[in-house]
Amino acid sequence: MARRGVYAPYSKFRVGAALLASSGKVYHGSNVENASYGLTVCAERVAFFNAVSAGERRFVAIAVVSDGAATPCGACRQVMAEFAPKLRILVAEAKRRGPVRTFLLDELLPSRFSL
Ligand code: THU
Repeated sequence: MARRGVYAPYSKFRVGAALLASSGKVYHGSNVENASYGLTVCAERVAFFNAVSAGERRFVAIAVVSDGAATPCGACRQVMAEFAPKLRILVAEAKRRGPVRTFLLDELLPSRFSL
């Protein structure tokens, strides 16, 4: 379900994210690639931008699903920190049931940049 919108013709690496806002609503995101590879946006950031542009500002947890149980990249971690410094991150493997690992954002991005 979270990977429904994936557009990954270049890497074929399909990633989905489900972001739980404090409001109780869940926002989805999938990775969206581009022929100019650097313009690709990860599933996690798509989920965040979806939610933030819908007016959400506070978040509880994000679940990320991929074939390799990938953890969020550095850029996504910094975007998460902007809105959810205490975010819980659940990483799932598509073929398994339930999360493989869970983290707090503090563990994945200590001493991060902030203004
Ligand atoms: N990707 C994500 O969507 N999230 C991550 O946490 C890591 C990588 C995507 C970007 C690209 O479309 C593909 O996975 C391979 O890097």
